[in-house]
Amino acid sequence: MKNIIITGASRGIGYDAALQLARQGHRVLALSRNEENLKALKKEAGETLDYLAFDLLNPDEEALLEKARPMGRVDVLVNNAGYLLKKPFEEINKKDWGRAFGVNFFGPSRLIQLLQPFLEKSGGAHILNISSMGGFQGSAKFPGLLGYSASKAAIANLTECLAEEWKEKNVACNCLCLGAVQTEMLAEAFPGLQAPVSSEKMGGFIAYFAAEGHHFFNGKVLPVSVSTP
Ligand SMILES: NC(=O)c1ccc[n+]([C@@H]2O[C@H](COP(=O)([O-])OP(=O)(O)OC[C@H]3O[C@@H](n4cnc5c(N)ncnc54)[C@H](OP(=O)(O)O)[C@@H]3O)[C@@H](O)[C@H]2O)c1
Repeated sequence: MKNIIITGASRGIGYDAALQLARQGHRVLALSRNEENLKALKKEAGETLDYLAFDLLNPDEEALLEKARPMGRVDVLVNNAGYLLKKPFEEINKKDWGRAFGVNFFGPSRLIQLLQPFLEKSGGAHILNISSMGGFQGSAKFPGLLGYSASKAAIANLTECLAEEWKEKNVACNCLCLGAVQTEMLAEAFPGLQAPVSSEKMGGFIAYFAAEGHHFFNGKVLPVSVSTP
């Protein structure tokens, strides 16, 4: 049984991953802003899942630490929350950059810093960052997704660097760059596209990789995609 914190758990892939982790008996703390959805998740997941309404753009750090302290150690942190910025480059303003990098890069980075003492207590922790094929070097690129993709590339690079910096701390860090998964975000990014992978299926893979992936990988940025996009 692992202690697991996962962001973006109110819908889509994060909801499904959190649910499956809780059903596997892990102790899960689910974060995101939409408290109603988190309550619904709790109802489905039962005893082993707790939640906290948490905004990565305006984080209540003390509220998070209050939830983390009784857990003692954190074995897995899944930075899954994402913000889709869809705009041509010339229209992106300062607020847009702030939101995209805030949710996709600065928020997760700060969470890692805040949770460092709890991760170190694990004795074998795993930080799993969820990025996108858009942020994967050399992949196909799509107009209008530059701001989103750049912020996802940033978290992928942080993954490689942090794994190196923390290799003596017994905290591994990996990054999965997802291809198309059928969620509300995909419908917004590519209207009408039918993804080959369901949210439930990807949630299951992420649940498995979060709990076990660090036994096989560290500092890796891995494409997880069977289609383009
Ligand atoms: N679906 C795909 O095809 C695809 C492809 C590549 C990568 N990804 C990545 O996979 C991850 C999950 O994607 P998804 O498709 O499941 O997305 P989604 O359905 O749009 O869910 C995004 C999640 O992020 C949370 N979130 C957004 N802004 C937040 C904020 N300010 N503070 C806290 N939480 C926030 C949302 O919760 P609240 O609104 O409740 O806060 C929600 O739970 C994301 O990182 C996404 O970029 C998805």
